[in-house]
Amino acid sequence: MSRAAVLAGLGTYVPPRVVTNEELSRTLDTSDEWIRTRTGITRRHWAGPGTATGDLAVEAGTRALKSAGSGDVDLVVLATTTPDHPCPATAPEVASRLGLQTVAAYDLAAVCSGFVYALASATGAIAAGIAERALVIGAETYSTILNPEDRTTSVIFGDGAGAVVLRAGDPDEPGALLGHDLGSDGSLKDLIIVPSGGSRQPVAAAGTSGARPADSYFSMQGKPVFRHAVTRMAASSQAMLDRAGWAAETVDWFVGHQANVRILHAVADQLGMARERTAVNLDRVGNTSAASIPLALADAVTGGLITPGDRVLMSAFGGGVTWGSTALVWPEVAPG
Ligand code: COA
Repeated sequence: MSRAAVLAGLGTYVPPRVVTNEELSRTLDTSDEWIRTRTGITRRHWAGPGTATGDLAVEAGTRALKSAGSGDVDLVVLATTTPDHPCPATAPEVASRLGLQTVAAYDLAAVCSGFVYALASATGAIAAGIAERALVIGAETYSTILNPEDRTTSVIFGDGAGAVVLRAGDPDEPGALLGHDLGSDGSLKDLIIVPSGGSRQPVAAAGTSGARPADSYFSMQGKPVFRHAVTRMAASSQAMLDRAGWAAETVDWFVGHQANVRILHAVADQLGMARERTAVNLDRVGNTSAASIPLALADAVTGGLITPGDRVLMSAFGGGVTWGSTALVWPEVAPG
């Protein structure tokens, strides 16, 4: 029997500062009503000066290891769009701060699909015998790349981190990831982009005013992203259902990337799933990109929605563009 990756621990963290729609409406030409009705978001958490993605990742990682009942892992994969530095990767320092000296550790960049990609990557390492136990983290501080003057992005994104522990196990035990569907379409890379700061366009010098250059901020073309997110998440979810041999109506919980409640409902509709089966926490945390799915998972488990034995389908869409899905039967795991 082949080795499966089995979910054995779950932990999350959001920074304490809550930013409400009302607060954003004071500095941006927007309103609580617009944000709530167009996205479903009422508030989000922003980290603030001095706190980096790695700090949130360490908090979530600590909780996931506690939930797993063991600090023993030999691989750390950190999915993030907002690493602490362009170089080196954030994962080795996070591993070190978690007391995991000398383990394999790397970052993975797939924007909002990052966590699903990281699950697949760690699963591959476990299946190949490269790792026995992996800590997979999605962590973001989008507040550091949002243009405070851009109402189309500032109202949507939040900071946070979520992590799971995967261990080697059997494909038929609860918690085993039942396969992965991943994809990308790089011809659409401009839909979600931070234009400068990479090798194509190194950081521009600040103007004489000292202001941060506009092209160093995150930008997004909301409307086409919305359309592609629905189409790709629905198709990827269906591919994953086919792989797992599950009919859509037998799924207990759809844990989709928390970008917009209208996207989640449209995907559920396309799959023929009841909208009530969709886990939603974006109202309280916004879009936390790579942290989104583990935060939504933990929220649904803590809230008593997802219980052991439930069939859980996860799907994400993000910059790149990228998308991916996976599924599992929920094991006896409570967030740490
Ligand atoms: N407050 C008030 N008005 C706003 C606004 C805000 N925060 N942001 C945009 N608007 C305005 C626009 O300027 C536009 O005005 P106009 O009609 O005068 O031109 C109007 O609202 C409609 O904008 P539009 O972009 O068409 O709105 P939308 O219904 O598509 O909603 C998003 C915008 C961003 C919420 C939506 O497109 C979305 O959720 N996209 C996907 C985002 C996502 O999933 N991203 C992450 C994927 S990884």
